[in-house]
Amino acid sequence: MSQIQEKTEIVRIDQLTPEVFRITLDAPEIAAAAVPGQFVMIRTGNSSDPLLRRPFSISQTSNGGLIQILFKVVGRGTGLLSHCREGEKVSVIGPLGKGFFIDIEKNPFLIGGGVGIAPLLFLAKRMRQKGLVKDPVVFLGAAESSELLPLITDFEALGLQVHVATDDGSAGHHGLVTEVLNEVDLGADCMGYVCGPKLMMLAVHQYCRKLEYGCQVSVETSMACGMGACLGCIVPASKGGYVHACYEGPVFDSEEIVWEI
Ligand SMILES: Cc1cc2nc3c(=O)[nH]c(=O)nc-3n(C[C@H](O)[C@H](O)[C@H](O)COP(=O)(O)OP(=O)(O)OC[C@H]3O[C@@H](n4cnc5c(N)ncnc54)[C@H](O)[C@@H]3O)c2cc1C
Ligand code: FES
Repeated sequence: MSQIQEKTEIVRIDQLTPEVFRITLDAPEIAAAAVPGQFVMIRTGNSSDPLLRRPFSISQTSNGGLIQILFKVVGRGTGLLSHCREGEKVSVIGPLGKGFFIDIEKNPFLIGGGVGIAPLLFLAKRMRQKGLVKDPVVFLGAAESSELLPLITDFEALGLQVHVATDDGSAGHHGLVTEVLNEVDLGADCMGYVCGPKLMMLAVHQYCRKLEYGCQVSVETSMACGMGACLGCIVPASKGGYVHACYEGPVFDSEEIVWEI
């Protein structure tokens, strides 16, 4: 599918923590075309500074043509985005990349860490809409509860079983979300859908391999173009050579890529 460039209006911006923001954009064409796991490239400044657009996962779409992005301020681009106000326009290209494959034969569980939770909400909603697959069990991890609370509410509103872990113990298990995963018996024939810090995704990949579960991971790389032109996003492939995270991913079967930490 070809990507769409839209000049989108910021409908709403919510600050969840000093560093984490949720932004809602009016992007009807992108909302209509997107599937969970795909991303958009956003021009974060008004001019050519910064020159490159920044990639963000689509965290929700609505029938009314809205898309939502959850982002953490880590540098110049995300800093500029956090200072945007409702009513301002931003240029967005998307939907980009290959999203999650919903395997209807397997029992799903979703596991996300920090802002990596973003695409999993879209995925959970799509699984619910389709009604083809069993309800997923959800595992959410973050540094502190304020980052998580609005998201927990969104997942619980779907009637899903949600397990929570925080680094500071302010909500759920005090520790890593993968520790909670290890304590829950998910049964046989599962598929993990994973997005978050690399070490967390590696731990889930190893867990799934041990239990003979399927595992799909959404990888984060640096991306200059987001559409196959620059090689900035390549990841070593387990069959040899490289794969482009921007158009062959960002979602891969966890066995397809070489895990370099
Ligand atoms: C497919 C994809 C989806 C993404 N989805 C989200 C999302 O939903 N929410 C979100 O907050 N972020 C997401 N990211 C990461 C986001 O794109 C970066 O945080 C952003 O580009 C940083 O821009 P900046 O100008 O603020 O920081 P820069 O000034 O470019 O960089 C600041 C610091 O952050 C580091 N950094 C930059 N990009 C990344 C990255 N991709 N991974 C790790 N470290 C990085 C740099 O090395 C540097 O140390 C995604 C990335 C990809 C590839
Ligand atoms: S980001 Fe340019 S080729 Fe993938």
